[in-house]
Amino acid sequence: MNGHRSEGGPAQGRGAGGAATAAGPLLRVSGLKVSYGHIEAVKGIDLELREGEITTLVGANGAGKSTTLLALSGLVRKAAGSVVFDGEDLTRLPPHKIVSRGVVQVAEGRAILTTMSVRENLELGAYTRKDRGVADDLEKVFGLFPRLKERVDGMAGNLSGGEQQMLAIGRALMARPRLLLLDEPSMGLAPIVVQEIFRTLRAINAQGLTIFLVEQNVRQALKIAHRGYVLETGSIALSGSGRELLDDDRLVEAYLGG
Ligand SMILES: Nc1ncnc2c1ncn2[C@@H]1O[C@H](COP(=O)(O)OP(=O)(O)O)[C@@H](O)[C@H]1O
Ligand SMILES: [Mg+2]
Repeated sequence: MNGHRSEGGPAQGRGAGGAATAAGPLLRVSGLKVSYGHIEAVKGIDLELREGEITTLVGANGAGKSTTLLALSGLVRKAAGSVVFDGEDLTRLPPHKIVSRGVVQVAEGRAILTTMSVRENLELGAYTRKDRGVADDLEKVFGLFPRLKERVDGMAGNLSGGEQQMLAIGRALMARPRLLLLDEPSMGLAPIVVQEIFRTLRAINAQGLTIFLVEQNVRQALKIAHRGYVLETGSIALSGSGRELLDDDRLVEAYLGG
């Protein structure tokens, strides 16, 4: 199921390290706890993201999915636990250093710059990069999202909801991530648009990029994921391959309406 690695695209790792392949997961979260005051939102979870795979974290509203992602990105304080990415301990790194390692989150609620053009939004995604090749990567993003190319000089705020989500993903790809984090990209979108976004995530993954997808849309997320974790009030309740979880009676009862 794993995609082969292609050369030189935005949806492709930097090729550094490689220690994660046979030796272990690309990213390992151990014993992660996050609290907001007295509320323990994440209660000591373990996760493994394997290189080249789509891993999904699914769960109901308030389960702690976004908090988990924020902790990976260094945007909330970890009360306990560790995050190791490609053999490097990221637990205490600030957000910009985590991004510079190639762990890049697609902004929730899209957070694109509505008064700037599509092109300007995409170019901003590349601002942390020192290499050349931004123009090539723009073309690769347009290959994934032809509609962004059609609207490249238009104002981002005039895009539809689905197109804005595509732009947010495209912008993250311009940073040349090694691991792409997404927080509910399906939110607020019509089912047919969700399918299109998820198909594109599969295509991006097939080019070699490792993806961590947080979703409330349990069925669709498990359909495209190699592996999944079910988060319930801050704890992992179930895990397995996407297929196993889709067939799991406990999950079907709780999330998929029997
Ligand atoms: N900034 C915050 N301050 C206090 N409580 C929060 C904050 N953000 C989230 N929470 C609480 O933490 C829990 C997990 O929230 P969240 O991670 O947003 O869940 P999910 O993304 O799965 O919907 C919820 O009980 C939520 O109310
Ligand atoms: Mg959330």
